[in-house]
Amino acid sequence: MKVYLDNAATTPMDPEVIEAIIPVMQNNFGNPSSIHSFGRGSRAIIEKARKQAAAFINAAPGEIVFTGGGTEADNMVLRCAVQDSGVTHIITSATEHHAVIDTAEILSKNCKDLKLSLVKHDEKGYVDLDYLKQLLEENKDRKTLVSLMHANNEIGNKLPLKKVSVLCKEYGAIFHSDTVQTMCHYEFDVRDLEIDFLTCSAHKFHGPKGVGFLFVNQNIQIKPIITGGAQERNIRAGTENIIGIVGLTKAMEVAYRDIKEHQDHVQGLKTYMIEKLEALIPEVTFNGDPKGDSLYTVLNVQFPNSDMDEMLLYNFDIEGIAVSGGSACSSGSNTGSHVLRNIGADMTKPSIRFSFSKYNTKEEIDYVLSVIEELFVAKTV
Ligand SMILES: Cc1ncc(COP(=O)(O)O)c(C=O)c1O
Repeated sequence: MKVYLDNAATTPMDPEVIEAIIPVMQNNFGNPSSIHSFGRGSRAIIEKARKQAAAFINAAPGEIVFTGGGTEADNMVLRCAVQDSGVTHIITSATEHHAVIDTAEILSKNCKDLKLSLVKHDEKGYVDLDYLKQLLEENKDRKTLVSLMHANNEIGNKLPLKKVSVLCKEYGAIFHSDTVQTMCHYEFDVRDLEIDFLTCSAHKFHGPKGVGFLFVNQNIQIKPIITGGAQERNIRAGTENIIGIVGLTKAMEVAYRDIKEHQDHVQGLKTYMIEKLEALIPEVTFNGDPKGDSLYTVLNVQFPNSDMDEMLLYNFDIEGIAVSGGSACSSGSNTGSHVLRNIGADMTKPSIRFSFSKYNTKEEIDYVLSVIEELFVAKTV
């Protein structure tokens, strides 16, 4: 049996998405910037997609900038905030995706006036909101960007977006949330959230890879970091990925159409796996707070030590089970997760991230549990 439980790294494309893309590949090759009918046809498709994408999160079409995925969108936020919005202080977390934390570190090294502050986490791995308030208070005289992800891609812990947004407003700070793991897994209303930036990546919800968008609140003006063309209202140069954009909006449509059903199904699988694992291996613990305010697609399990610690991912792989030891970028390796290290997890024990999608079944989870039983119950030292 082959079981794919690495959906936080990427998801398989939905057949409805593939179906929507094929006619665009066949018929709509015109450059959207060309003024002839071929170009105008492509332009119309992109603008329709922009309107649709915006509507799903209650944004205006002009607030959606299509990008080459989540990493690019995250980069745009941090770089533009410093370049265009006069930001001299970034508050983020050591547990952010590398697209955010590495970019923040590079910027703070290169810009001498830029201060970088990192939030603390509580013992369960949640962002310490009192400390966030303290950082904002202590740096009142600086223009601050707060960049904190909605749900952590490795451990699943969520951030109360509205609460943080209100706090940021109180201190006049710009608020960005990396919503790559939660967009199309939860409903978003950007007007209610009063948030400044959100980032989206299509391949995390059964869309194509290499396409996403940045939501830029209409109150914020940014300039391009990729230059050389007037595309995306002068904010992101380069001929648009029309195939990807159509796939992205179709994936959004499919996800939001059946969102409740998928949430219940996937949460059911996660809860089932937690209960069975606890019964099977009493020494098992979980990184983060999977029974608390946790992303329903992610379960990060800390297994007891055994004689195959180093080989655990490989052992799952030879049994046909795809899982991850860290973030998407470090799939295939179970060493050195910066997230686990920074929440104070026990790094001497092997941790595995199981991440689920609407396509997983209870039978698949039973198979995974039977492999775990074989690997652990007899072999625990
Ligand atoms: C939280 C988070 N942000 C950003 C990204 C990067 O997105 P992309 O793969 O579209 O560049 C990922 C992907 O793993 C992610 O999980």
